[in-house]
Amino acid sequence: MNLTLKIWRQKNANHKGSMVKYSIQNISPDMSFLEMLDVLNIQLIESGKEPVAFDHDCREGICGSCSLFINGEAHGPDRRVTSCQLHMRKFKDGDTIFIEPFRAKAFPIIKDLVVDRSAFDRIQHAGGFISVNTSGNTLDGNAIPISKKAADKAMDAATCIGCGACVASCKNSSAMLFVGAKISQYALLPQGQVEASERVKNMVEQMDLEGFGNCTNTGACEVECPKGISLENIARMNRELLKAQLKG
Ligand code: SF4
Ligand code: FES
Repeated sequence: MNLTLKIWRQKNANHKGSMVKYSIQNISPDMSFLEMLDVLNIQLIESGKEPVAFDHDCREGICGSCSLFINGEAHGPDRRVTSCQLHMRKFKDGDTIFIEPFRAKAFPIIKDLVVDRSAFDRIQHAGGFISVNTSGNTLDGNAIPISKKAADKAMDAATCIGCGACVASCKNSSAMLFVGAKISQYALLPQGQVEASERVKNMVEQMDLEGFGNCTNTGACEVECPKGISLENIARMNRELLKAQLKG
């Protein structure tokens, strides 16, 4: 396939940035989207130009590093896949593809397509953990009875990879799908009950401090989430918060 790429180039956080046009030839439909960008970068390096900076690590949909806004959609036109799992067969020969970084006030651009998502880490640090006894008398997790329904829902919430596509897709740059998933994975389990009130209050407070917007039930986050995290997790987070506030 021969393609035209229009890619956001920005030297650093202070630079204005703009879309730059590139032509790329002989791309296999079996390549992943990131492999296609690797081919472009090899061309750029060989011609003495600066390669395009983009985030990636596992390249198998696990780490949440890749964060491209492709043709106006977070992670591109496929569903339930990350940018690294998107294949070039989703595009046609002669296509023009627009590639931009995830955009949100709380995700400032570092360079080109790389954004700073450390706001998510700070939200996690505020409460996205449980305290367990590691003294040698640790209770075997399998000895605690948990209903299949609760276990399944907690596991579904725990599949969130923290990519930030929900924020990038939301007109309000809301992080509530991410935070809802991180709260739900513990709220549904007995192990998460000890710190439940503090967790939800601290995480929601940190989310607001980071400058993420509010949820207005548009649902774009759920549509674009590569892991299919359900809006139900936002509702659960709101219930958990109300419960914690009523407790005082
Ligand atoms: S909720 Fe989905 S889109 Fe948002 S960070 Fe988690 S995996 Fe990514
Ligand atoms: S590079 Fe790890 S999820 Fe895409």
